Amino acid sequence: MSHQLWGGRFETPTAVEMRRFNDSFQFDYRLAEVDIAGSIVWAGALERAHLISEAEHHALVQGLTMIQREVAEGSFASQHSDEDIHTAVERRLHELVGPVALKLHTGRSRNDQVATDCRLYCIEAARTLDKAVLRLQGALLAQAEKHVATLMPGYTHLQRAQPITFGHWCLAYVEMFERDRGRLEDATKRMRTLPLGSGALAGNSMGIEREVLTESLDEFDAVATNSLDAVSDRDFVAELLFCCALIGVHLSRIAEDLIIYNSAEFGFVILSDEYSTGSSLMPQKKNPDSMELLRGKSGRLLGNLVTLLTVLKGLPLAYNKDMQEDKEPLFDSLETLHLGLRVAAAAIATLRANPERMAAALDDAMLATDLADELVRRRVPFREAHGKVGRLVRRAEELGVTLRDLPLSEYQAVHPDLDETIYTVFDFLRSVTHKDSTGGTAPQRVAEQVARWRKIVDEG
Ligand code: ARG
Repeated sequence: MSHQLWGGRFETPTAVEMRRFNDSFQFDYRLAEVDIAGSIVWAGALERAHLISEAEHHALVQGLTMIQREVAEGSFASQHSDEDIHTAVERRLHELVGPVALKLHTGRSRNDQVATDCRLYCIEAARTLDKAVLRLQGALLAQAEKHVATLMPGYTHLQRAQPITFGHWCLAYVEMFERDRGRLEDATKRMRTLPLGSGALAGNSMGIEREVLTESLDEFDAVATNSLDAVSDRDFVAELLFCCALIGVHLSRIAEDLIIYNSAEFGFVILSDEYSTGSSLMPQKKNPDSMELLRGKSGRLLGNLVTLLTVLKGLPLAYNKDMQEDKEPLFDSLETLHLGLRVAAAAIATLRANPERMAAALDDAMLATDLADELVRRRVPFREAHGKVGRLVRRAEELGVTLRDLPLSEYQAVHPDLDETIYTVFDFLRSVTHKDSTGGTAPQRVAEQVARWRKIVDEG
């Protein structure tokens, strides 16, 4: 017999090309586990509504549990006739338990079914991503712990700006990824609304108690309160894809920093062999491909978000087949990002910082602001101090010396009260130590942040 879920009103079968165009099993098989979990709960609701007997309920649950096991073992075999995962599960159920399988879809539509499946899938995916982001934070934190006081140049416009510590740099990304975790948590809240029982679009007339369904499906805390919205809402997918895209952007930024720092010209870090690759032509090459791919794959993550938003834009209520196009971008983003996060965490855990090269890249001009601050401490208004130090920088350039080697007479020419003590400014550690405001790069402050993050990361 045909296991197509529709067809009674059709005279001729679907065209071959149309089948290929329409079928989604080749990608939505990933929903098998959540689809079956939803069906088990649905069978319970049917029994409670006296739509099936206790024995029928038992048979359905047994069959579905067997399929669940087949899926877990990898022995669940698809058939050419399987249009999508929902069809495939129902087909297999029929093979296993016989005609009672034909009752499972009572009061249900694939529209509320797939919306439920996707929500369950997204909830689990958000949880998995959160753990992966946390592991990445752990890798950054471990580097920060080693380099609380390791001096390096901080940049704006990719120009040397002020000295910072490498630990401070690491924790900047830990902060960034913490916001991503917060966004995942927040998006998950909205995923926990259950569409099941909304029927195709108008609700169900079978006396199903939808509230009870949320009790059986732990992941949900409320039922959707408008059936039209329930079956046509994919905002939660868009939100998750946005989370993925932004995490991708963050990965791309850290990757770019590390590509630069790993270059021979900088030499601030050395990426491990495991996360670098070679050249087929140039024997000496060791390329930071892990980082380049992280930077590159962020393009797909952004693209997948735009794809879905474009699909949803202008769709009339309620379900439209366009919405099947939510799945490939979703699965692609989740798979891309999950692997990307693992690679990022391992590449960062195994990279070696090179404090000597970092220190060698510091130059006196990066202390110009400290010099201005020193004048401010001597009661010079900041704007004036800025101008005076600017003149000193120009003077040093003219004489071909660094600020530190500029004779005292030059300092006194811009500000007569200055004496030898002004040269104490030329100490990079002093500079960072003075940045002791909350959130500043002072090693003391960085150490406090490290301790705070250690607790957060250990608690998970
Ligand atoms: N594979 C479909 C999807 O992902 C399932 C829902 C089909 N619903 C329908 N009315 N044809 O959107």
